[in-house]
Amino acid sequence: MGKSAMTARLPKSKGTEMATVYEVKDCMRKVKHLVLPERNRRIVEEFMTILGMREEFDRHEVPIPNKVVMYGPPGTGKTLTAFHVAASLELPLIVVRLDSLIHSHLGETGSNIRKIFDYARTVPCVLFLDEFDAVARTRESGDEVKEMARAVNTLLQCLDEFGDVSIFMAATNLATELDPAIWRRFDTRMTYQLPDEQDRRHYIRLLIGEFGCAQEAEAEACRLLCGCSFADIEQIVLKAKRKAIIERRPLDAAHIGLSYREYAPTPTEVRVHA
Ligand SMILES: Nc1ncnc2c1ncn2[C@@H]1O[C@H](COP(=O)(O)OP(=O)(O)O)[C@@H](O)[C@H]1O
Ligand SMILES: [Mg+2]
Repeated sequence: MGKSAMTARLPKSKGTEMATVYEVKDCMRKVKHLVLPERNRRIVEEFMTILGMREEFDRHEVPIPNKVVMYGPPGTGKTLTAFHVAASLELPLIVVRLDSLIHSHLGETGSNIRKIFDYARTVPCVLFLDEFDAVARTRESGDEVKEMARAVNTLLQCLDEFGDVSIFMAATNLATELDPAIWRRFDTRMTYQLPDEQDRRHYIRLLIGEFGCAQEAEAEACRLLCGCSFADIEQIVLKAKRKAIIERRPLDAAHIGLSYREYAPTPTEVRVHA
């Protein structure tokens, strides 16, 4: 199925393609270490099960879900989940480039949105729009109010006309700024949070892997990295591993502590793209 995405032309804006295509094997490679909290894991599993039972759902005239919104702080696995869904469904992932979508010319943003949706609803794929809030802001707020209101209206139409060939996934750190009308269009919603104790331990264990006498390092990382996102944990543990490699010594708690202080994890209240 991935083949068709390769042959169909991606729409362009300002001379460049509006999205990046990741083939199934790229997606599989990316998601090796995904840690999903229990609730989201169940939601994703059910989603997959339903998509594997299309005929039954047709027979009962129950529409299949195919519009997913994910929200929560940066570095908690929203983008990674899109890769995971694409890999599991063996569909290419089409990641929209937000900067090329949003245009200062009147009506151009809306027409770009239409182009990318027209593409995605005919070519089986997972269409992923990150930082979704940038397009789907409430119609009352923002500077270029009229232009954005038009874009939101186009987006609403595109979501309604999306059909069931492809999957649409959107991610945002700012759920409260989404237009309520847009919000209602999604059939599947997932909240992301900073890892709890159990998920943190699990993730740290995956990252450290077979690395010398790692138990002490693991305990220290679990203690110290409380309140960090998965993305921060990853960076800090990798930094610590590099230190250990340079010193030709097994990873220990001191490597973790030093890396943590050097890295200075991102405060979650500051919005950055992770
Ligand atoms: N839940 C997770 N499980 C495993 N790794 C994660 C998770 N969340 C984040 N990461 C790591 O951090 C990187 C950035 O995460 P990403 O999925 O882009 O976060 P978000 O989209 O929520 O900002 C990932 O590529 C991965 O290496
Ligand atoms: Mg992301």
